[in-house]
Amino acid sequence: MSNTIVVGAQWGDEGKGKIVDYLTEGTDVVVRAAGGNNAGHTVISGGNKYVLHLIPSGILWPDKLCVIGNGVVMDPLGLIEEINKLRGQGVKIEQANLLISETAHLVMPYHRALDVAREARRGDKKIGTTGRGIGPAYADKVERCGLRAILLTQPEVLESELRDRVAFHNETLAAAGVDLVDADTTVASILEAAKILAPHITNTTVALHEAMKAGKSLLFEGAQGTYLDIDHGTYPFVTSSNTTSGGACTGSGVPPRKIDRVVAVGKAYTTRVGSGPFVTENENIGDMLHNMGREFGATTGRARRCGWLDMVLVRYAVMVNGADELAITNLDGLDGLETIKICTAYKLRDKVIHYPPATCEDLAICEPIYEEHKGWVTDISGVTRYEDLPALAKAYLDRLAELAGARVSLLGVGPAREQTLVVG
Ligand code: GDP
Ligand code: IMO
Ligand code: MG
Repeated sequence: MSNTIVVGAQWGDEGKGKIVDYLTEGTDVVVRAAGGNNAGHTVISGGNKYVLHLIPSGILWPDKLCVIGNGVVMDPLGLIEEINKLRGQGVKIEQANLLISETAHLVMPYHRALDVAREARRGDKKIGTTGRGIGPAYADKVERCGLRAILLTQPEVLESELRDRVAFHNETLAAAGVDLVDADTTVASILEAAKILAPHITNTTVALHEAMKAGKSLLFEGAQGTYLDIDHGTYPFVTSSNTTSGGACTGSGVPPRKIDRVVAVGKAYTTRVGSGPFVTENENIGDMLHNMGREFGATTGRARRCGWLDMVLVRYAVMVNGADELAITNLDGLDGLETIKICTAYKLRDKVIHYPPATCEDLAICEPIYEEHKGWVTDISGVTRYEDLPALAKAYLDRLAELAGARVSLLGVGPAREQTLVVG
């Protein structure tokens, strides 16, 4: 038995889905513990592309158990859409292989409406949210007026609580001058969804502890990334949950002492979707990657902002998450470059700093300090063994590991399951 947490070391979209899919073979249970369907995890296997939003990527392995933990905010309508889509692609989703925590909070149509209305009101200062209602749903959780998944098994209570919350949130929507949410339509659609989802809802904390007692291994699939963490990220341009490794424990009921391994996933360069400072942002890299058809968001389709690898961020992420291992994806994205830059520190006013500053105002004026590396200028997407990589690619990875203070254990040279190399 060995329990592993996989987290993102940057601003999300690091390739966590692909790495989780790769690690699932050696595990028994795959758990999502934070976030909601703001996540979009792409897995390419057997020539098919799957995009997972709320369901752990482990679902693609029919004999594994998948769990949506208590820390997740779950949109019942979004989940049903996702289940139907995956089933249409031949994925097995049954009561036996998908459990939903009874204490996971629900994302309701009024949360999505509030998310969109608040973003519109922020104008130039918008966060660039996914519009999935994540912030308002977590706000209700913390405000202690949220509705939890267990209500999907109690239709009468659900209906009266839901009518109360629709009326409450409609006051805010009315004040914002936007369309109200219709109570009858909402109740009808959620009660319908409840019938479908109720059999999956259970005490997942007990289920996870029973699995551990039976000697089974757990794999926690992180969503978003370290710099989208509500505490450790580039606030306020963050999501509303703890996306770092500690969130896996609070979001599942599995205690920290049961965790054996933390793998931080990072791209060989940096991307970010949504607003907020990005010290190493570089339009040329963005153009190059977009022209290759890469770096478009899996959830919203937005073009991701791109830049050089920022090791100030990755090093800090290794520290905050307690990661001993790095999985570096998309190394092949740098194949065409003669010169590759790595940011090793920032200059903030007249000081050189090695950690990201606390405020976005300071981060926005940080200047990157780069070191330059010679590119390998070779197509590495067909390489199947780490030993066969060009020496310059290995040198880039060695330097990255040295700067991060963690070893690179996995490497991505392409999007497919087979394009994952074990290092060392
Ligand atoms: P996640 O949210 O962290 O799971 O990442 P996303 O799926 O949103 O974005 C990662 C993108 O990179 C997806 O399109 C993946 O298919 C792709 N990807 C992952 N690893 C690699 C890799 O090593 N090479 C290439 N070319 N693409 C990769
Ligand atoms: P995965 O799991 C990348 C970003 C949004 C926005 C900010 C807040 O695929 O890595 P939210 O809708 O959560 O309130 O938006 O967070 N964001 C992500 N960016 N990958 C994600 O998930 C993200 N989930 C949220 O773009 O900037
Ligand atoms: Mg993603």
